[in-house]
Amino acid sequence: MTIENLPSDIEFINVNGVQFTHKDIYNVVNDFYTRIQQDPILQVPFQSVGDWPEHVQRLTHFWWIRFGGQAYLFSHYNPVAKHFFAGFNRELLARWLSIFHDTLKTHLKTDQAELWRLISERMGEGLSMKNEFFRRDYESGKNA
Ligand code: HEM
Repeated sequence: MTIENLPSDIEFINVNGVQFTHKDIYNVVNDFYTRIQQDPILQVPFQSVGDWPEHVQRLTHFWWIRFGGQAYLFSHYNPVAKHFFAGFNRELLARWLSIFHDTLKTHLKTDQAELWRLISERMGEGLSMKNEFFRRDYESGKNA
């Protein structure tokens, strides 16, 4: 992470009246992926990640812009195909969400943790649906 990209305590974003500093987002993402690397089930699909600090930086940026912050990395995200090929399914999602929610509670105030939990659950639903559409197309040869 370069100096200008270091998440700060003074830069914040307001999501539906709940405030997050850039550092809040970084702290959650960083700890979450440490827990993922220690999880006997989820560490398996995440073996595709070669550079963890880069992944944490990319995902910190992802949540920051998802929350309405200004983009500061040149990043293109392609989550549907990546998750499909990582073996995404509902069981893995439930486990991912459970670890994510524990991480939120460790680092954030209740209103922040609750809002981010709701957002992550909705994104998980969205990803699940898109994953099934992708599977259908993939199995019928459309995006092979
Ligand atoms: C709400 C739940 C989830 C969200 C919001 C989420 C979000 C993301 C995002 C934004 C990326 C970066 C994609 C890109 O670089 O284009 C990513 C990468 C990844 N996700 Fe998820 N994810 C979720 C659940 C899961 C689950 C359940 C798995 C289990 C298979 C998973 C496995 C991965 C892997 C392995 C990568 C890294 C792919 C790579 O760059 O090699 N994710 N995730």
